[in-house]
Amino acid sequence: MTFIIKPITSEIRSAVTEKVTESWRSPYVVSMGVLRDTREQPGFAAMAEKEPVGYVFYSIADNDCEITVLESLVERRGIGGALINAVIEAAKENGCRRVWLVTTNDNIHAIRFYQRFGMSLRTVHINSMDAARKLKPEIPLTGDNDIPIAHEFEFELYI
Ligand SMILES: CC(C)(COP(=O)(O)OP(=O)(O)OC[C@H]1O[C@@H](n2cnc3c(N)ncnc32)[C@H](O)[C@@H]1OP(=O)(O)O)[C@@H](O)C(=O)NCCC(=O)NCCS
Repeated sequence: MTFIIKPITSEIRSAVTEKVTESWRSPYVVSMGVLRDTREQPGFAAMAEKEPVGYVFYSIADNDCEITVLESLVERRGIGGALINAVIEAAKENGCRRVWLVTTNDNIHAIRFYQRFGMSLRTVHINSMDAARKLKPEIPLTGDNDIPIAHEFEFELYI
């Protein structure tokens, strides 16, 4: 499968929002106690023909760039890595020194992926998902492998 990485412009935003909503139960995402509407965030999509096969959103503050959501819909084809690399380039252009993100404790696959990509664990936010659920009650109680979703693991990469 071939794909190209594109900034999420108005032309493709609604197709991407549909995928976000299917995967995360709404267009809203929560990280570190902050609720964000992906429909208003900058991001990139991996497009195969006219179909999004992956997307990433990010938020820049204080010379840091947070990846607020990343998903590859066709795994092990390089889409996840290509999307992070697109954010790294955007972060550099905006004068950022650090790209960071959180993922939940159940997401063993993502925890592996980020470390294989070269990111380092910075900290674990214990029981942070209690506050996240107050903002987004749709967040399930258990995740991958029926592991209770309780904590956020923070990963970072200096660029
Ligand atoms: C975690 C996630 C983003 C990874 O995306 P991905 O598209 O599979 O990532 P990549 O293809 O770039 O890399 C994954 C692996 O495939 C390998 N790979 C890349 N291209 C490949 C190819 N053409 N053939 C075979 N393997 C390939 C990579 O080297 C990497 O291997 P490694 O893990 O042993 O280092 C994806 O699994 C996902 O969306 N998960 C669900 C949502 C999620 O958990 N998001 C993150 C939470 S914040």
